[in-house]
Amino acid sequence: MMSQDELKRAVAKAAIEYVPVDCIVGVGTGSTANFFIDELAKIKHKIRGAVASSEASAKRLLGHGIEVFSLNDAGSLPVYVDGADEITRHLHMIKGGGGALTREKIVAAASKKFICVCDASKLVDVLGRFPLPVEVIPMARSSVARQLVALGGQPILRQGFTTDNGNIIIDVHGLNIMNPVELEATLDHIAGVVTNGLFARRGADVLLLGTPEGVKTMTV
Ligand code: A5P
Repeated sequence: MMSQDELKRAVAKAAIEYVPVDCIVGVGTGSTANFFIDELAKIKHKIRGAVASSEASAKRLLGHGIEVFSLNDAGSLPVYVDGADEITRHLHMIKGGGGALTREKIVAAASKKFICVCDASKLVDVLGRFPLPVEVIPMARSSVARQLVALGGQPILRQGFTTDNGNIIIDVHGLNIMNPVELEATLDHIAGVVTNGLFARRGADVLLLGTPEGVKTMTV
């Protein structure tokens, strides 16, 4: 029986196939993205460098001697590789368990292809069992929370956590997300919300799912 870490390592290895020679690659955040960074280190002489979606990933990339570019200097990227907290067969995701959702959404938006790397436990029929992270400007905490309640969720402030952008995270529990594209837009329109963890309007293009039978490739 393969451990969850072995499944994550297997998908991280598979994702390397999607990295073009000589490119700057978009790199996500989290334990699966960390495995990808470690695989990237093995081919670092074949790439120009990376754009990181968090300070943590930038640190790990630099630790491997991979050059880290700011997105402004890198321009458009061919590929972005990241994990997810939940993903559906439509390749809609919940992200932000690690709190890096805003930079993740920005780097993903600037990338031609989003390759999602997950172990099989992340594949779900309906999003929402994993609490939906929402990054909020601190002064808007209470007003945003009230609007999240009005939408049927139970907002819980992530205690003792500040994002790389200096904001707070509210985790929204109890949502059964039947229409992630619509909810993503609705949440984005609440004043004080910076980003929400639904990646549906721009979902993944390819899912590399680590299963005990091997890496399954799924597209929409
Ligand atoms: C980070 O903010 C998240 O979006 C991660 O991509 C997500 O939490 C996946 O992390 P793991 O690979 O550790 O499950």
